[in-house]
Amino acid sequence: MKAIRYHHIGGPEVLRLEDVPEPELGPGEVRLQVHAAGVNFADTERRRGLYDTKVPLPRILGSEAAGVVRAVGPGVDEALLGQRVVTLTTGCYAEFAKAPASGLVALPDEVSFEEAAAVPVQGLTAYHLLHTVARVQRGQSVLVHAAAGGVGVLAVQIARALGARVFGTVSSEAKARLVQELGVDEVIRYDREDVVTEVHRRTDGGGVDLVLDAVGASTWEASLRVLAPFGHLVSYGSASGRPPALDVETLYEKSLKVSAYWLHTRHPPGSHHRALESLIRDVADGRLRILIGLKLPLAEAAEAHRRLEGRETVGKVVLTVAG
Ligand SMILES: NC(=O)c1ccc[n+]([C@@H]2O[C@H](COP(=O)([O-])OP(=O)(O)OC[C@H]3O[C@@H](n4cnc5c(N)ncnc54)[C@H](OP(=O)(O)O)[C@@H]3O)[C@@H](O)[C@H]2O)c1
Repeated sequence: MKAIRYHHIGGPEVLRLEDVPEPELGPGEVRLQVHAAGVNFADTERRRGLYDTKVPLPRILGSEAAGVVRAVGPGVDEALLGQRVVTLTTGCYAEFAKAPASGLVALPDEVSFEEAAAVPVQGLTAYHLLHTVARVQRGQSVLVHAAAGGVGVLAVQIARALGARVFGTVSSEAKARLVQELGVDEVIRYDREDVVTEVHRRTDGGGVDLVLDAVGASTWEASLRVLAPFGHLVSYGSASGRPPALDVETLYEKSLKVSAYWLHTRHPPGSHHRALESLIRDVADGRLRILIGLKLPLAEAAEAHRRLEGRETVGKVVLTVAG
């Protein structure tokens, strides 16, 4: 099969389209013909050697795929053959990927492969940030950094559905318009406006209850300063570099809480599966809008990485593979 692999750490140019064997199946696994593979910022960090560095090279990137089940391993129900599904797995920048049958979520006809491929990583992250970690309540205020990004566009929609007043930071006029269309109440251009001043101005000095921050180094200090008393900052990434070490002393004055979220932490059994089913239902019913900002063929994975790292993309970046 064709797959995108890299043999050493480096820039987008290390991603090569190569012929590799199809994945072999163990007990409980299926082989998926990939129609759409999601691209995530973390893939670019893996490629740069900043994240997930213990996996041996050469490696096929890609943590999520939507496609059709073409083969089943020992112990797997053959009724799955031919089904349209989506899943979190590994090695998805490829024509075929293997995945545990237990993690598959069936796709309703209304949901395209491209839309589905936008949901596992970024959708589950947005879902767990708001439901599991922060447990947002109606009437709270939530600030989402990089609100026009993949996780961002989903997080702002989920926060709004929970009844929050949503603040979103973005770095361009086009991104500002996009998040306004998604219903973000307060858009802040953090490339040219001061986030702390803007949040305080728009909250009568009160601040926000929750900040979701995966930008890291460049936003960290402002994220702490815009919090209301008893506010909560959740760190879940570092697109601009690692935030500085935290001095707990600085949290006392406003009784702040700082926490972290990682999708690959061991979650309660079934938690990802239930959340993924619920998100796919929301997409099918039109409650959650999937915004595909960039769709490229598998062979152009390097270009997808270039644009994602260059802050040129909005919403989801998808590689189309077959069909
Ligand atoms: N903890 C987890 O389990 C988990 C899971 C998924 C994603 N994440 C993290 O969440 C973040 C968003 O991921 P995503 O896949 O949805 O990507 P994305 O938001 O679509 O793309 C990254 C965005 O970050 C913003 N950004 C700010 N400073 C940047 C810089 N110096 N370089 C590049 N981008 C910068 C850009 O938006 P502006 O131009 O508007 O600033 C850019 O579009 C990433 O940090 C990722 O690692 C974490």
